[in-house]
Amino acid sequence: MPQFKNAVIIGASSGIGAEMVKQLAAEGTVVAAVARRLGELEKLRDACGADKVKIYAHDVRQFDTSAPLWDQIVADLGSVDLFIYNAGVMPRIEESEYNFAKDREIMEVNVVGAMAWLNPVSAYMEARRGGTIVGISSVAGERGRRGNPAYHTSKAALTTYLEALRNRLFRYGVQVVTVKPGPVDTPMTAGLKLPLLIKADECARGTLSLAKGGTGEGYVPAIWAPIMFVIRNVPSVVFRKTNI
Ligand SMILES: NC(=O)c1ccc[n+]([C@@H]2O[C@H](COP(=O)([O-])OP(=O)(O)OC[C@H]3O[C@@H](n4cnc5c(N)ncnc54)[C@H](OP(=O)(O)O)[C@@H]3O)[C@@H](O)[C@H]2O)c1
Repeated sequence: MPQFKNAVIIGASSGIGAEMVKQLAAEGTVVAAVARRLGELEKLRDACGADKVKIYAHDVRQFDTSAPLWDQIVADLGSVDLFIYNAGVMPRIEESEYNFAKDREIMEVNVVGAMAWLNPVSAYMEARRGGTIVGISSVAGERGRRGNPAYHTSKAALTTYLEALRNRLFRYGVQVVTVKPGPVDTPMTAGLKLPLLIKADECARGTLSLAKGGTGEGYVPAIWAPIMFVIRNVPSVVFRKTNI
């Protein structure tokens, strides 16, 4: 018997999201997989079985369509006890590039899109007096590094939003879990040289383990907890001279 009966994953078509779909489906959870690329979702459904994976094409930037799609998914599955907001973008930003269009896309996908989903999901789980909400944030949200200001901002915002939801919802028996992965080998990081890179399936496993434990906040892998403790405490005057 799987811990979660029915799950919804937003941003399920590749990378960490696709791996979570596979792992949950293998455990017996029915998963609603949501993303824009229907072709990728169809491949996932064919690999996992149509009884285990239901697919929905959706662009999280179409904010008005999130709540109606949530209602449709709940009706299709009967109930939902795990919701994961995993959708995210990280376009490359050059050294002296200042690009509002890219910043806007990052904030709309990583933050505003999350809010458009998390409002109806939170209301549903509060009314049900239970359930687990997971948000995929990042170690990137803990400092404003020079490489990609909007990406760091988006993950800091998501982390804070999820903390506030956790503080609202714990009294109703709803778990809100913030996952902060370090670098993961996915299409998002293709071509980048990153330290301590892990595979997407390892990140998915670590994320689902935190979700099952109802852990408030956790790093994947756990080694990032002491590393980020140090990085968080580097004084700003020193931090700006580094590229950590
Ligand atoms: N890779 C890393 O090193 C790393 C580290 C820490 C945190 N993260 C976070 O982990 C999450 C997953 O990223 P990933 O590394 O697995 O990258 P990925 O393979 O590029 O996956 C991103 C997912 O987000 C979805 N998405 C993007 N824009 C969307 C939109 N407008 N509407 C709906 N879905 C959208 C994509 O689906 P479609 O394109 O089909 O819509 C895809 O399923 C992201 O939130 C990312 O910020 C990644």
